[in-house]
Amino acid sequence: MGYIKYEQKEFIGVLTIDREKALNALNSEVLTELNAAIDAIDLDATRCLIITGAGEKSFVAGADIGEMSGLTKAEGEAFGKKGNDVFRKIETLPIPVIAAVNGFALGGGCELSLACDIRIASENAVFAQPEAGLGITPGFGGTQRLARTIGIGKAKEMLYTCGRVKAPEALQLGLVNAVYPAEQLMEEAMKLAGKIAANAPIAVRACKKAVGDGIHLDMDSALVVEEKLFGSCFETEDQRNAMTAFVEKRKPEPFVNK
Ligand code: CAA
Repeated sequence: MGYIKYEQKEFIGVLTIDREKALNALNSEVLTELNAAIDAIDLDATRCLIITGAGEKSFVAGADIGEMSGLTKAEGEAFGKKGNDVFRKIETLPIPVIAAVNGFALGGGCELSLACDIRIASENAVFAQPEAGLGITPGFGGTQRLARTIGIGKAKEMLYTCGRVKAPEALQLGLVNAVYPAEQLMEEAMKLAGKIAANAPIAVRACKKAVGDGIHLDMDSALVVEEKLFGSCFETEDQRNAMTAFVEKRKPEPFVNK
């Protein structure tokens, strides 16, 4: 693949969007390759995915403005759907996804990070939804996920003003979970992914599904979602192993995803 690099590091997948000369902007080809790369992840062998951008300057500087500049209404809608479909696939991927935001996360870049479960950022990271200044709305989920992540008031301010949010403010807003010096970002992303990968994969995936499926339901329905997923963890090898080890006051065997 030309624009996507994928490395498997034991249980952790590292996916890099690599179109550095355009600050990793997302054109149709990048989106097609990203979709194929996500489909190709071996979910039996992978317990956490990290998404980052190539180079030191940018995570993703948005959807490709050159490509969008001449689109018709129908083509614009189709381009939005193409991005939305890939990002939704990332959001609902059974394993947790960490965005390691290593610089500009503008427009589609901010939206890509929002489709991930957890965002961590380098000190030089900058978030914004600059679309209104380009005569469009965000098209890859920004109007929906930003408000759900940082609250409606601040999300609307970002959407209406196109103002930039630097890493410290992103941390304060809860847009990112942590900020690190740029040279430590990937090491910290790997550490976080490693902590996730050390837990029982079936349980971690069930946690992701419970939060994702339950968050937009009323509490009674959401608790039923949790009950079903909670129940589904029992009789698994990993549950038996971990609980028996606790009862016997010893460490569990490594988890096997069964
Ligand atoms: N689309 C296409 N090309 C882009 C791009 C984008 N979103 N962002 C950067 N590039 C390209 C530039 O055109 C430039 O290419 P050339 O070298 O061929 O001229 C190259 O990347 C480097 O960019 P700059 O020279 O502009 O670098 P800079 O350091 O001066 O500025 C920047 C960096 C502030 C990120 C600036 O490039 C910029 O403002 N980019 C656009 C950001 C943006 O508005 N993103 C939102 C797009 S709309 C969207 O994403 C819609 C959606 O929701 C789906």
